[in-house]
Amino acid sequence: MQRGTYSQAQIQAALGPVFGVDDQLIEDGTYFVVEDESKIVGCVGWSYRKSLFGGNSERNEPDPLLDFKTDSARVRAFFVDPAYARQGIGSALMMGCENALRTMGFTRVEISATLIVEPLYSKFGYKFFEHYEIALKGAESMKVVKITKEIEQDQNGVG
Ligand SMILES: CC(C)(COP(=O)(O)OP(=O)(O)OC[C@H]1O[C@@H](n2cnc3c(N)ncnc32)[C@H](O)[C@@H]1OP(=O)(O)O)[C@@H](O)C(=O)NCCC(=O)NCCS
Repeated sequence: MQRGTYSQAQIQAALGPVFGVDDQLIEDGTYFVVEDESKIVGCVGWSYRKSLFGGNSERNEPDPLLDFKTDSARVRAFFVDPAYARQGIGSALMMGCENALRTMGFTRVEISATLIVEPLYSKFGYKFFEHYEIALKGAESMKVVKITKEIEQDQNGVG
């Protein structure tokens, strides 16, 4: 689904370091999947740790913890099977993430997103504040965008 936005060389170079598995999200129990029967058709992680994106192949230490009182939570590793696109799976996953980080007491979220997710994040009320390039293997790089949103707490102040 990224074809048209990124070249094949960029997508290939990003597989692993940018679009890779971060086991920490799974160990933390902060990774959601959507299944059709037993097939995983969508996934996203939210996180109370520092990394904004990427697999954990180049990390030797645990990802440092964030402070929910002062730091922004993360939403990461967001993918829907192309055969299941535009059926609301991505939106359902985002709602799950926002509910989870609200329950943890976070009041802000910061995301490093690919350009193709901009329409979805706009729909969810995210603000786009910085385009930047991620260096990839070889001479490749990938333009992405940092986005943010204030998360309102429930009236009863669950946190
Ligand atoms: C981003 C992604 C997860 C969205 O998943 P999805 O299940 O298709 O999203 P939804 O069906 O919930 O879409 C919600 C809204 O987002 C917007 N949207 C989603 N995909 C879009 C697209 N390709 N073009 C324009 N708008 C889009 C639309 O407003 C859509 O609402 P609508 O269908 O009623 O018009 C999916 O496109 C994807 O996996 N992309 C490739 C991987 C990727 O780049 N991940 C991000 C890593 S940061």
